[in-house]
Amino acid sequence: MPAAPDIRILRDSQAWAAAAAEFVQEVGKEAIRATGRFLIALSGGTTPETLYRALATPTFANRFDWSRTTFFFSDERCVAPDDPRSNYALAHRALFIPLKITSSQVYRMLGEARDLQAAANEYGRQLRLVTKTSTSAQPSLDLILLGLGEDGHTASLFPGAPVLRDDQNLIAVTQSPKDPPTRLTMTLGVINRASVILFLVAGAGKAGVVRAIFNPKTEAERQLPAALVAPEEGHLIWFLDRDAAAELPNTSTADEHMRAR
Ligand code: 6PG
Repeated sequence: MPAAPDIRILRDSQAWAAAAAEFVQEVGKEAIRATGRFLIALSGGTTPETLYRALATPTFANRFDWSRTTFFFSDERCVAPDDPRSNYALAHRALFIPLKITSSQVYRMLGEARDLQAAANEYGRQLRLVTKTSTSAQPSLDLILLGLGEDGHTASLFPGAPVLRDDQNLIAVTQSPKDPPTRLTMTLGVINRASVILFLVAGAGKAGVVRAIFNPKTEAERQLPAALVAPEEGHLIWFLDRDAAAELPNTSTADEHMRAR
């Protein structure tokens, strides 16, 4: 039975970004203490970008040993790596350059590949190799960062998409109603094996879908992709700003920790 998620509500975007950056570094330090390295999967979107920019500020950049971190991606848009829509391009600009991350530390999904299925398979193979996971098990990363779309999508798992039932592939090629239409994404099996899953959600536009996830009123709301993220053994944590938490009960006090579900 998955544990209840830990929901952290911060008063504004500045407090939100600082708390999220601190949390990522805590998880990273713990992973390095335990295994000597930190395996993290990044996400795309404007909210994760806020976190990347916070991590790159001197306050956070200088107090963590990034050389022991290996970066993966939870999804990628199928465009060239220098396309402004590429999740890799965003991470490269906002995180890898300022933190001087070397290319050997980054596993990017090849969204520009002609044969996307081969690229997905190869990424799955790399995940297994780095995590030393046999083909009979699911690789487990230390931390997976996820954003949330207003329609309830996360990574590139969109509502109703067949990929939500894919229990064969670690990484799948899938379609998106948002531009760009073709994506590579981690499947739920890999996401739900992570030690820690961190949802990054900010802004009033997300308040309705946040309510739908924590207080679903219909079967469709229960089946929203983000609601299907439920790590069997790991921790699920949501960082919300006050605007995104506006439709949840008991959120009047900012910067408080609260348990739900
Ligand atoms: C992507 C994503 C996606 C994103 C959410 C939230 O590549 O588009 O990984 O799941 O994280 O759509 O994006 P925003 O923070 O921009 O709303």
